[in-house]
Amino acid sequence: MKKQLIAGNWKMNGSLQSNAALVSALAAGVSNARCQVAVCVPAPYLAQVQSRVAGTRIDLGAQDVSQHEAGAYTGEVSATMLREFATRYCLVGHSERRQYHGEADATVAVKAQRVLAAGITPIVCVGETLAEREAGRTEEVVKRQLAAVIHANGHCISEVVVAYEPVWAIGTGKTASPEQAQQVHAVLRAQLHAATEHSDRMLILYGGSMNAANAAQLLSQPDIDGGLVGGASLKAADFLTIIAAAR
Ligand code: 13P
Repeated sequence: MKKQLIAGNWKMNGSLQSNAALVSALAAGVSNARCQVAVCVPAPYLAQVQSRVAGTRIDLGAQDVSQHEAGAYTGEVSATMLREFATRYCLVGHSERRQYHGEADATVAVKAQRVLAAGITPIVCVGETLAEREAGRTEEVVKRQLAAVIHANGHCISEVVVAYEPVWAIGTGKTASPEQAQQVHAVLRAQLHAATEHSDRMLILYGGSMNAANAAQLLSQPDIDGGLVGGASLKAADFLTIIAAAR
């Protein structure tokens, strides 16, 4: 059976000191985890966290990548640079990138390509806003977002991890119910199934106010293959509780 993946997204949080404490506590707590575990850290901390997770069950992830390969793109970080720090995963198209940095579906698709070409697994985020959900457009929106990535990546789509993160559930304490999440995950699975014969072994994570109290129920849904955890990944005890709820 495929292992679930619990990935923490630290967002723009942390310091050398707090990262060290968090990673030590996680490393001590994950040795018996059944699932895969990753932390997606701010770029300046990749080197620090790379050395601290070495030899543990924790994989390293980044939160974003440039759509360009190299060159005059001040402030950008390339996929090959991420690879030099043994980055295993990279978030692509997080709603905060789409919302605050104007990332369009086509940009997200190119970023996924760059990441795959560097030998890193993209975690492609999709999700609807509250207005879109209320207008009955959830399926249409997530399918459009995923279709762009499928279209750009062809058969390599089977190497991608998908994360369903309803925008209205991110950082709000309002989690999608397990049934609401499962319904969208099933839609995404069907879309992947039409694109690749490997859809069953692909991981579709849920993200949006996942916490120690609600993780077990979400993670028991048939098409939920793990979690992408924001706020609760910054507290070792909470993140370890979520990890323990995964299979
Ligand atoms: P929260 O868990 O803080 O709602 O954030 C979810 C998220 O955006 C993870 O990428």
